Amino acid sequence: MSEAGAAAALPEGHAAARFSSRSIRSFVLRQGRMTEGQRRAIEEGMPEIGIPYRAAPLDLEAAFGRAAPTVLEVGFGMGETTAAIAQARPDTDFLAIEVHGPGVGNLCKLIAERGLANLRIMQHDAVEVLRDMIPVGALAGVHVFFPDPWHKKRHHKRRIVQPEFVALVASRLAPGGYLHCATDWEEYAEWMLEVLAAEPVLQNTADGFAPRPDYRPLTKFENRGLRLGHGVWDLVFRRRAADGGVTGDRATGT
Ligand SMILES: C[S@@+](CC[C@H](N)C(=O)[O-])C[C@H]1O[C@@H](n2cnc3c(N)ncnc32)[C@H](O)[C@@H]1O
Repeated sequence: MSEAGAAAALPEGHAAARFSSRSIRSFVLRQGRMTEGQRRAIEEGMPEIGIPYRAAPLDLEAAFGRAAPTVLEVGFGMGETTAAIAQARPDTDFLAIEVHGPGVGNLCKLIAERGLANLRIMQHDAVEVLRDMIPVGALAGVHVFFPDPWHKKRHHKRRIVQPEFVALVASRLAPGGYLHCATDWEEYAEWMLEVLAAEPVLQNTADGFAPRPDYRPLTKFENRGLRLGHGVWDLVFRRRAADGGVTGDRATGT
């Protein structure tokens, strides 16, 4: 862990502070084919909307040019959902993280096309960003939508939703801030529920799985799956207030 990193502010022995060496990653870096439009969007967009990784706390107000609740997204894929949510919630800032180049290019394109001022992109391992750059208690929310399920049992250790990851996320949330996960893989959904429920700093907003919050649009893929009778599971947990209660949501107004 970087001494300069935000994790240095955590109490010794905290689960997230122990999340120091990253030998097992939740992604496999395949750059994939980048279209000319995506390449151009990166070239033109990233100098302005891209934030480079540095092992030092990030000044979120300076990054977005204003003080507003900030939601961090882990693994935005092609960024369609990310752009739709940022457009629908202009009073919230979104820090969207993805390692996959074509996805970064696609989101740069969407940001330019729609003139979204409340979205910034990082192309880096989101775990390292959370650990090293995000100050304790700084986030209004964290989105983890359809993370790679790593179906095979021997790959389950690659799943991003693990106790250490959840403890790290919880430490970066402000009291009342939320962690929203969604998956279409039932066994991963059960796994997520177990792991999130075991994190003492978080409290479930529902009795088990949550209804899909209005701000998360149905994806094309999800629509097709639902028509075929496949399920989708949302989980929304909130960081407890210091006194143990759960405060209202500053970001979504729920
Ligand atoms: C199955 S895709 C889902 C993408 C998107 N959230 C959606 O709903 O369509 C999971 C994405 O997470 C990204 N990812 C996985 N682990 C990551 C990490 N540690 N940091 C950043 N991105 C990650 C992968 O590159 C992949 O694009």
